[in-house]
Amino acid sequence: MSKETDKGTVPTASVAETLAVMGDVFVPNIAKGVIIRRPKVVGMAEKLGLDKRAIQRLQKLNEKYGSGPLMLNTPNSKPMALILDPDDANRVLNETPEPFATAEWAKRKALEHFEPDMALVSHGPERAERRRFNEEVLQSECPVHGLGARFAQVVEQEANDLLALVEQYDGKLDWDMFESTWNRVVRRVVLGDSARDDQQLTEMLEKLRSAANWAFFHPGHDRVKDDFHERLCAYLKRGEEGSLAAEIARAQTNEITQPEHQVPQYLFAFDPAGMATFRALALLAAHPDQAERAQGEIAENSDKPAPKLDYLRACVLESLRLWPTTPMVLRQTTEATQWESGTMPAETSVLLLAPYFHRDERVLKNANLFDPDLWLQPGEAGNWPMMPFSGGPGICPGRRVVLTVTSNMLAKLLQGRAYQLDPPERLLSSKPMPPLLNNYDLAFKVDNR
Ligand code: HEM
Repeated sequence: MSKETDKGTVPTASVAETLAVMGDVFVPNIAKGVIIRRPKVVGMAEKLGLDKRAIQRLQKLNEKYGSGPLMLNTPNSKPMALILDPDDANRVLNETPEPFATAEWAKRKALEHFEPDMALVSHGPERAERRRFNEEVLQSECPVHGLGARFAQVVEQEANDLLALVEQYDGKLDWDMFESTWNRVVRRVVLGDSARDDQQLTEMLEKLRSAANWAFFHPGHDRVKDDFHERLCAYLKRGEEGSLAAEIARAQTNEITQPEHQVPQYLFAFDPAGMATFRALALLAAHPDQAERAQGEIAENSDKPAPKLDYLRACVLESLRLWPTTPMVLRQTTEATQWESGTMPAETSVLLLAPYFHRDERVLKNANLFDPDLWLQPGEAGNWPMMPFSGGPGICPGRRVVLTVTSNMLAKLLQGRAYQLDPPERLLSSKPMPPLLNNYDLAFKVDNR
């Protein structure tokens, strides 16, 4: 793949094409909020079908320039390239962090607001140590984390409270109700039961994430950052049994590890997991056949303390494929790299737009349908890059914890109940899945089965 070439630099888009990419890809994604979503903009993006425009824009460029990477025409700022070919996407993911570093400059600027020493924005030996720590704490290679049974218990308790509330509201479930429950689950899983009602901690982090959305255009909230870190460190010091904080207290660390800079990522990245769960609930409500299969799996596993729930995990993965919560996966080249079509300079920001790969109906037969079986075949979608959790050595080390908590939440909410979207036509199995599904205005009517 990476062979020496004298073809010069890889092709560069024209100024007009670069502006079109800015308008169709970067502006909508930045406006929706990269680090924390802005619900109103998400609603607008859904109505205007902006996510489809982004995919079509890249498809057009792919048809014109062929499969190699395409430099954007940005003479006065950092070099930037689009990846348009699945093999190239796999190469970038697999050759992380050298020469494709995770510590891309825009990402660094954003995350500096609350976790400047996080693994994702570190490089070299510092990254290696922090990545090792995260893999150890999150048991990234275990299908079910050692604390899986405890996490399932936490989910069950909070789901039961939520369902009691749903009954009080005549069977209505909406995002605000779900989100409060989800935040309690997240604080208990990450920090322990004593953090269950510490909504203030979540709000402090939200404020820091809102500033991070503006990256270098926001001066930052130094006071909130200090208060947040102080509070977080108190929980980490306590290391409550049955939570990730206990694993952190047990994990080997040194002066480089900086656990308190890794854990904000755990807390904040659980947010999109809640969005993916709520959307998966909508998908199941709109697809009765798949909902029946899910109910079968729930019944078969109802007495297991830490069930793996493959089908429900596949439903969450489908929710993330259709509506990726990290749509822009960014890397930065640490040296000049060679491609079939030429050389890409060092320090180029490389963008892999997940929806472009996930929804390519030119190649994937059911690209716009809800098809959990895609994740249950051996080899999943083959060599096709599916990157809800990115891939290669930079893959999300929390993915299996996420799939454990989300699938258990779906199981507990669905067990013995039937969900209908309100209004039912919000999502229809007879139509292609929309380019974006606004989770903030989803509502359900819940009945006993
Ligand atoms: C639906 C939920 C989640 C999704 C879709 C997701 C996705 C991702 C993606 C795409 C990356 C790579 C980002 C990049 O390369 O720029 C990543 C990194 C990471 N994620 Fe997740 N994540 C989720 C939840 C979580 C949770 C809950 C945790 C921890 C409990 C977690 C821990 C991490 C860590 C530590 C990294 C950094 C990895 C590294 O430095 O190599 N994630 N995640």
